[in-house]
Amino acid sequence: MSNYQVTRGLTGGDRAVGERLHKVLARAGIGSRRACEELIRAGRVLVDGEPACIGMQVEPEQQDICVDGQRVPLAGQNYYYLVYKPKGYVSTVRDPQGRPKVTDLVPLPGVRLFPIGRLDLQTSGLLLLTNDGELTFLLTHPKHDIWKTYQAVVEGIPSTEDVARLQQGVDLPEGRTAPAKAKVLKTLPDGVLLEIALQEGKKRQVRRMCEEVGHPVIALRRTSLAFLTLDGLRPGQYRQLAPEEVRSLKEMAHGCKR
Ligand code: URA
Repeated sequence: MSNYQVTRGLTGGDRAVGERLHKVLARAGIGSRRACEELIRAGRVLVDGEPACIGMQVEPEQQDICVDGQRVPLAGQNYYYLVYKPKGYVSTVRDPQGRPKVTDLVPLPGVRLFPIGRLDLQTSGLLLLTNDGELTFLLTHPKHDIWKTYQAVVEGIPSTEDVARLQQGVDLPEGRTAPAKAKVLKTLPDGVLLEIALQEGKKRQVRRMCEEVGHPVIALRRTSLAFLTLDGLRPGQYRQLAPEEVRSLKEMAHGCKR
């Protein structure tokens, strides 16, 4: 809950605080002012968790405004979401083949979110979505070596030498991969579950590294990025990053120099 005052139906000598809610909603692209008044009247708009009322004044920068449970985006504001990408979703903002997109998972009217980096169509797991170009630049720039952890079910049982090759570097057509962390987490009926942590992000890197050491990937999931994990989320779910998390990511990326 915000500490900021919501002024409902000002009278007499009261001084107006903020702006009329229906105008704020209209400016955010929710609908015409009249349509927004209807939404308010229908009880579909909450301000700081409380049903809004007609004529209400709000401070959009300071208060939580939701329509049908979705936070209303504000012009000029940055948004950061951690999404559990399911298999079968593309990590692009447009797909000529019309497949489901990760950006469909976080409906935010009027805001163009884009993914920070990519996961393959058949890879699931942690993906960040934002409209903050600075954070995207920082986290995708090759000189920023943030750790990303994957769990891969691979065919066969990798030997100690295979795991050591994954750790030390595997030769791919574009060059040798950087030192990585790799370990077998458990043995499965048809292979093993490997955990691999990388600081780089070459195209289909985990799949190609495993293929190269003779253990093709059957299923792949990204489980963490820096200090962020999928805890509490199921495929298709998402959460907003806390301001401290965004700050820490930026600090980490600024501090990383290879
Ligand atoms: N490595 C892969 O092979 N695929 C991904 O989506 C991410 C890392």
